[in-house]
Amino acid sequence: MGMTRGMTHDVLVIGSGAAGLTAALELAEHKKVLVLAKGKLTSGSTAWAQGGIAAVLDAGDTFDNHIRDTMVAGGGLNDRETVEFVIERAPKAIDRLCELGVPFNREEGDLHLTREGGHSHRRIVHVNDATGWAVQAALLKAAEENPNITLLPNQSCVDLVTGRNQKDYSGSGRVWGAYALDEESGKVVTHLARATVLAAGGAGRVYLFSTAPRGATGDGIAMAWRAGARVSNMEMMQFHPTCLYNLEVKNFLITEAVRGEGGRLFNPVTGERYMEKYDAERMELAPRDIVARANDDQIKRYGLDYVNLDISHQPAEFVKEHFPTIHEKLLGLGIDMTKGPIPVVPAQHYTCGGVKVDLDARTDLPGLWAAGECTESGLHGANRLASNSLLECFVFGEAAAKDILSCWDELDDPPEILPWDESRVTDSDEEVVIKQNWTEIRRFMWNYVGIVRTTKRLERAAHRIRLLRDEVEDYYGHFRVTTDLIELRNLLECANLIVTSALKRQESRGLHFTLDYPETDPIARDTVLVP
Ligand code: FAD
Ligand code: SIN
Repeated sequence: MGMTRGMTHDVLVIGSGAAGLTAALELAEHKKVLVLAKGKLTSGSTAWAQGGIAAVLDAGDTFDNHIRDTMVAGGGLNDRETVEFVIERAPKAIDRLCELGVPFNREEGDLHLTREGGHSHRRIVHVNDATGWAVQAALLKAAEENPNITLLPNQSCVDLVTGRNQKDYSGSGRVWGAYALDEESGKVVTHLARATVLAAGGAGRVYLFSTAPRGATGDGIAMAWRAGARVSNMEMMQFHPTCLYNLEVKNFLITEAVRGEGGRLFNPVTGERYMEKYDAERMELAPRDIVARANDDQIKRYGLDYVNLDISHQPAEFVKEHFPTIHEKLLGLGIDMTKGPIPVVPAQHYTCGGVKVDLDARTDLPGLWAAGECTESGLHGANRLASNSLLECFVFGEAAAKDILSCWDELDDPPEILPWDESRVTDSDEEVVIKQNWTEIRRFMWNYVGIVRTTKRLERAAHRIRLLRDEVEDYYGHFRVTTDLIELRNLLECANLIVTSALKRQESRGLHFTLDYPETDPIARDTVLVP
């Protein structure tokens, strides 16, 4: 077996979404950066974001208000220092995006601020109802124009390279880059670097119904966990209250801003505006966990397929102007939101837990930084406040880059690393195993580890995971890797982390609601899993 020596790049960034590209652009002022993406460079959740980015920009609003709203939504599990760190940096992050050319909506020159659930003030900057696409495009353009950045799509990282992969096995958790499957050639390539930034997004696709894109399979979380990093609060899976109910289009989000601009929820059978029963004060603008549970309760209690979201009482021009993308998409499906209600259901939306990081975006592993949805920074606590996640990507992407640059001289060059070993595997002869297990995981996670949980259901899920584990590891050990297989292995790893964390939390808080422990403990504690 040959050795892989030397390094092609100073820094490896895994992920080309908001977190990865923010880090890359900052690093590229001084270093050469390689950015890897699974599939297209626009394949992450960033490109799908609708509502916008939260920032205190209105004279009547304060950082304290935003901090309080974030902590109320987060059920007190947030880390106050992190919350302050992120929220105080939000206006600067928006300035930077304006410099990069993001065409945020404006009203008489000022940024237009919309409103979303859990926010006491209007503070969401946005580009119509397709903010993520505009942000992704601006970041990508800047990265493409930067000679210090190499963007490499169609690379599925399999695992991080650590001291265990050294020629002279060190057993250390020091990270030196990653092994990545080149999706076109089918070969696994070793990418080495002095510093690695993990920005591989969330694990939403572990659930049958999710607003997240196909590639959100928790690869970053699973890779860091296998390499020895702690992972926290994985039971805090956020469900969005309003995903379109449609038999063909399964994961189209109807932004919370529709409720922010007056949209109301109704039971389609009784016609009741039911939020009054669940949160009479905040109604449709209660935090997401409350509205998602209300929708779930109505659907289960009345045996419904969906509930109705209605904004048709607003003038048609107002609706079309604020929500052009959604309006057009729905018209193509035969729904006119200016004239009648939109059928919606809750669906998984955001992974609040993840790889534990500090304010410098450092993980437990030397050489590995992480930012964005694959992390648990302390910002979101038990439930993320709407539009705080893109913000977290910008703040922590920059923090990672700054910290790497400040400690650059202490970072060694990678040692000799063993290349990927394929000598004992063959091509798979039973792809159906992958498909079957993917579906099985997503189905039992939806049914047993969803919006309302019980210990019995969680134990059933844990049992399924144990059964599948042997099968998937056996498959992984015998067959050449493919993206589907990499994702299946990571989905199962993440399912295990979610269920283990959920079983550990013997209380109900934020997104973790269990009928066996309906009370909230007086003291909020993170669920930290140690490999
Ligand atoms: P992503 O943007 O998901 O990027 C992940 C990157 O990692 C991708 O480039 C992917 O290819 C790469 N990757 C993954 N696995 C591998 C691998 N194995 N090897 C190599 N590369 C890999 N948040 C808000 O703040 N405001 C909103 O309005 C909003 N709306 C949303 C709407 C939808 C429909 C969804 C799904 C999410 C929304 N969110 C919103 C959440 C927000 O979009 C995400 O949390 C955020 O974009 C995550 O950014 P990221 O950089 O961490 O990861
Ligand atoms: C939305 O537009 O409803 C999503 C906002 C978010 O996830 O923060």
